[in-house]
Amino acid sequence: MQRSGRWAAAIALLLAACSSPGGAPNTIAPQEVRSQLPIPPVAETIRDDGRTVVALRAAPGRTDFGQEGGPADTIGLNGSYLGPTIRLRNGDDIRAEVTNALDEMTTLHWHGLHVPAKSDGGPHSMIEPGDTWRPTWTVNQAAGTLWYHSHPHGQTAQQVYRGLAGMLLIDDPEAPDVGLPDQYGVDDIPVIVQDKSFTPDGQLVVDPEPAGGPSTGFLGDTIVTNGKIGTYLPVTTEAVRMRLLNASNARVYNFGFSDDRAFDIVASDGGLLPQPVTSQRVQLSPGERAEIVVRLDPGETVSLNSTPPTLGTGDDARYSPGTFDVLQLRAADTLAGSPPLARTLSTLPAADPASATTTRTFRVQGRAINGRPMQMARIDFAVPVGTPEVWEVTNQDRQPHNFHVHNVQFRVLSRGGQPPDPAFAGLKDTVYVPPLSTVRLLVEFTQYTDRNWPYMFHCHLLLHEDIGVMGQFVVVKPGETAGRPPHSDHPA
Ligand code: C2O
Ligand code: CU
Repeated sequence: MQRSGRWAAAIALLLAACSSPGGAPNTIAPQEVRSQLPIPPVAETIRDDGRTVVALRAAPGRTDFGQEGGPADTIGLNGSYLGPTIRLRNGDDIRAEVTNALDEMTTLHWHGLHVPAKSDGGPHSMIEPGDTWRPTWTVNQAAGTLWYHSHPHGQTAQQVYRGLAGMLLIDDPEAPDVGLPDQYGVDDIPVIVQDKSFTPDGQLVVDPEPAGGPSTGFLGDTIVTNGKIGTYLPVTTEAVRMRLLNASNARVYNFGFSDDRAFDIVASDGGLLPQPVTSQRVQLSPGERAEIVVRLDPGETVSLNSTPPTLGTGDDARYSPGTFDVLQLRAADTLAGSPPLARTLSTLPAADPASATTTRTFRVQGRAINGRPMQMARIDFAVPVGTPEVWEVTNQDRQPHNFHVHNVQFRVLSRGGQPPDPAFAGLKDTVYVPPLSTVRLLVEFTQYTDRNWPYMFHCHLLLHEDIGVMGQFVVVKPGETAGRPPHSDHPA
């Protein structure tokens, strides 16, 4: 009896492993479309003494993703899973109040924001359970689609996966109207894409480094969009702007539509492109964003999907396999007209490496950058403020890596010796680095110096970030050297 029970369990496991299409593990299983896309609420703000104040509370909850077996234990900000969309206006003075109501330490990092190091929310800005962290800054950057997520050293993958992330939009009241759809939740849609796996009783499989999985870390078998499985969006306008965010641990998406229709890419990580880039696909690695505008005909149904990305590993299907739907768009029988897109969206100066006097090299390999795994107590280098630099990042592995720098929007000068694709030639804070190749970045820190409190640079595949593919730099006044980081006695 006991033995046959064990066999039944083994067979069930085998069947589960083979149930993905094609039998390949880590492949997304098709889902019935049955839930309207949830739109994260816009975070409420109050005015206090000239500042815009936004309050976030990280706490445990239970979440119905639409999975079999009932709600999952999750963590979220002002809700059970993910957080509200924070909207900040360029020029405004901000204070955030981040309360940790979890029973574990956390931090909250503003990914893509230009902020003082002490307000950046990296691994040194630990918020103990029960505490509130109150960073301040003045918004000084272009309108764009940023995000925020927890960033405790060694724990980022599991905390982000369980729900500590959200979108952060910068609005610029001074920017000209270029015809972009801008009704939040109607024709301006946040699209947070993640892959998950669930246990039979509906709990999240939390396994940042699965045994036998790809070296890049966790890949789920279920797509969750804004926290729901099998989503659709009712479309009521001719054009829809989608703010795509890859908030997954390791999966790279090659977004487009099920009929391969063309769309316009209008923004990269940090803001609008100079011109719309018409394309059928946009590939995003973890942490990257793109804004796209797609047009629909009345009454039609088409899906945002992902096809296999080009990773350059020689075995790409191991790292991000399959074609699958992400969000179905259902157009109403009559659609409200949308304005035409302007041909010029923004003015971005050409990225000119001649202005840079320093070149730094970053060799990403295994669990380290330049042979050194991340250490909380070690500042790797100091960058003088206001001095453009060329950063050359080489992936020395055969596996995927990407590269993210805190506090800055950089420009990609070249990738594998070629100029970047126009969709990636604008403002970026995260860039894919194909195996055995080099990306060259133009990086400049225009303000905020602190010789002790570091910013991070790292691979944004969350497992890699946690296991050491990260380092620390400070931005200093000309002539200053790096000091000592606040947690110089921290173990790792
Ligand atoms: Cu998206 Cu160091 O973070
Ligand atoms: Cu990596």
